[in-house]
Amino acid sequence: MHILVLHGPNLNMLGRREPEIYGSTTLEQIDEALRNRAAEAGAQVTIVQSNHEGQLIDAIQAHWGSIDAVIINPGALTHYGLSLRDALATLHIPIVEVHLSNVYAREPFRHTSVIAPIASGQISGLGWRGYLLALEWLLTRS
Ligand code: DQA
Repeated sequence: MHILVLHGPNLNMLGRREPEIYGSTTLEQIDEALRNRAAEAGAQVTIVQSNHEGQLIDAIQAHWGSIDAVIINPGALTHYGLSLRDALATLHIPIVEVHLSNVYAREPFRHTSVIAPIASGQISGLGWRGYLLALEWLLTRS
């Protein structure tokens, strides 16, 4: 199984970015945990972070046909990234949307996800462990 993990804008700042909301775990630590768990399960992960919607779309298209699932935290693109949504919609594979914070307990603009309708499911508010839970679901679903 080959899983593409996508991190959107500003997630490279995790650990330093509003830690009271997003926690003190860095993106590098999250990626390492994902790589370790995937390796243990014999799965492959490719991880891409970008602050640019087009680069995330390029990554999706570059891996089109060669990945089995996607884990994505689109950052603020969650709420308006229609090109990203359209790119994901071309995949027809399981997609799990992850948010560190509980977006539904925050500002109203965060309550809308343009990604959720084309995702298999969403994890919101469970911090960095949400990524690992998403991975676990992908590894164990039949
Ligand atoms: C986020 C929530 C988004 O609203 C925000 O723009 C982010 C991070 C989260 O992980 O909680 O960048 O996706």
